[in-house]
Amino acid sequence: MAVIEKGSFEVISRSPTQTRRIGMRLGEMLIPGDVIGLEGNLGAGKTTLVQGIASGWGSYDSVSSPTYVLVNVYRRLDRKQLFHLDAFRLKSPEEAIDLDIDAILDQGPLLVEWADKIEEALPEDFLWINMRFINDEQRDFIVHARGERHKILLKRLREEIYGA
Ligand SMILES: Nc1ncnc2c1ncn2[C@@H]1O[C@H](COP(=O)(O)OP(=O)(O)OP(=O)(O)O)[C@@H](O)[C@H]1O
Ligand SMILES: [Mg+2]
Repeated sequence: MAVIEKGSFEVISRSPTQTRRIGMRLGEMLIPGDVIGLEGNLGAGKTTLVQGIASGWGSYDSVSSPTYVLVNVYRRLDRKQLFHLDAFRLKSPEEAIDLDIDAILDQGPLLVEWADKIEEALPEDFLWINMRFINDEQRDFIVHARGERHKILLKRLREEIYGA
C-alpha cells in the first residue's frame, strides 16, 4: 500500500471483478448524506465501481449509465434510495446546482461520475476516488476524503481492503 498523503490510500485493481468487489465494500457502508466523487477518464472504471457500490448497498435495480437522465435512482427493499449522477454532459457546475443536491442527500447517498466537472456544486465533504487506467486489466485508485464522516468511511474502506 502506498500512502499518498496523510489519510489517503492507493489500491490497484487487477480486474473489473476486483473493482466491483472494492465498490461492494464501500456500498455496504453508505448512508444518506454520503457523497462519493469519481474522477477518471473514459474507461477508467467509474461505472464498474458504481455497479459494485450499488450491489453492496443492496440495490435491486441494475446500474446503467445515466446518459439521458442526469441522475439514476436505485432502490432497495427497505425503500431507501441511492443516487447516481453522471456529470459528463454537464457544461458547468451551475447545471448541477439546479439538481438540488441537498435534497438528494436527504434521501440517500450520492455517487458522482466525472465529479471533477461539478466539484463546486458538490458539498464540501466527500470521499473522492481518482481512477487511472494502467493497462487493459489494471486500474489505479487513489482514495481521499474531506470531512469527519467521509474520513471515517475512508478508514473503514482501507481496513476492509488491507486489513486493520
Ligand atoms: N480493473 C478494472 N476495473 C474496472 N474496469 C476494468 C478493469 N479492467 C478492465 N476494465 C474494463 O474497462 C471498462 C471500464 O468501463 P466503465 O464504463 O466502468 O468506465 P467509466 O470510467 O465509467 O467510463 P465512462 O467515462 O465512459 O463512463 C469496462 O469495459 C471494464 O470491463
Ligand atoms: Mg461511466
